Amino acid sequence: MNRLAPIGIFDSGVGGTSIWKEIHRLLPYERTMYLADSRNAPYGERKREEIIQLSKKNTELLLDAGCKLIVVACNTATTNAISELRATYDIPFIGIEPAIKPAALQTHTRSIGILATKGTLSSDLFHKTSELFANGIRITEVIGKGLVPLIEQGDLDSSELRELLQNYLQPMLDAKVDHIVLGCSHYPYLIPLMQELLPKEIKIIDSGAAVARQTKAVLEKNELLNLEDISATHQFYTNTSASTLQKLLQEFNESISIEVREF
Ligand code: DGL
Repeated sequence: MNRLAPIGIFDSGVGGTSIWKEIHRLLPYERTMYLADSRNAPYGERKREEIIQLSKKNTELLLDAGCKLIVVACNTATTNAISELRATYDIPFIGIEPAIKPAALQTHTRSIGILATKGTLSSDLFHKTSELFANGIRITEVIGKGLVPLIEQGDLDSSELRELLQNYLQPMLDAKVDHIVLGCSHYPYLIPLMQELLPKEIKIIDSGAAVARQTKAVLEKNELLNLEDISATHQFYTNTSASTLQKLLQEFNESISIEVREF
């Protein structure tokens, strides 16, 4: 495999761009190819088998395009499908999981909250991780039903979004959490709204930077890190409309292309 080949990234939609931004910040010379499977979002309400099938479809498109490593920039796809993907394809995969460990290590109130999709919260992988780290800590799990479709629409300050989020945060406030883990790659786009709705002592944790560091480490280990100072190209594909991707990636306009296509 070629060091100059792109990193492949997929998500059920636009949310994985929050991970792409971290990867691009850490590895600016790496080429990337991103699939936003927005037509099939939200994955979080689907059965495990369907999530596996969709993840395989995305993986095969990225493999056909010559990607050297694949980042599953979706908690729902990681927690439900990454073991299948690793068993099926001979390429390194990086996944994203809710960052329970740092929250569990840092909490003073011994109470943390997790906002994630139904698919993530009901997965075996999530249960295993939370049992491992949440020793004696109260975990308030909340399913963010309806948040992903609203984020997909691109209005990150709508009254509908605000109201829904407020309802989801309330049980966490009642449980006196001091850390809230974002267990969905779409949710970092809610951070400004959450900061308005939450007392400032509550820390919001997402996994984007950790995924970028892990991507770098795995590329290094597999001798796949690009060592050349090139001006990298970034291709984004969506199977619905380009407008939300354009909005979220505005600041990168000069170095990215966004295409709508069937997949
Ligand atoms: N970004 C996906 C995740 O991290 C959203 C899941 C969905 O489509 O429901 O879980």
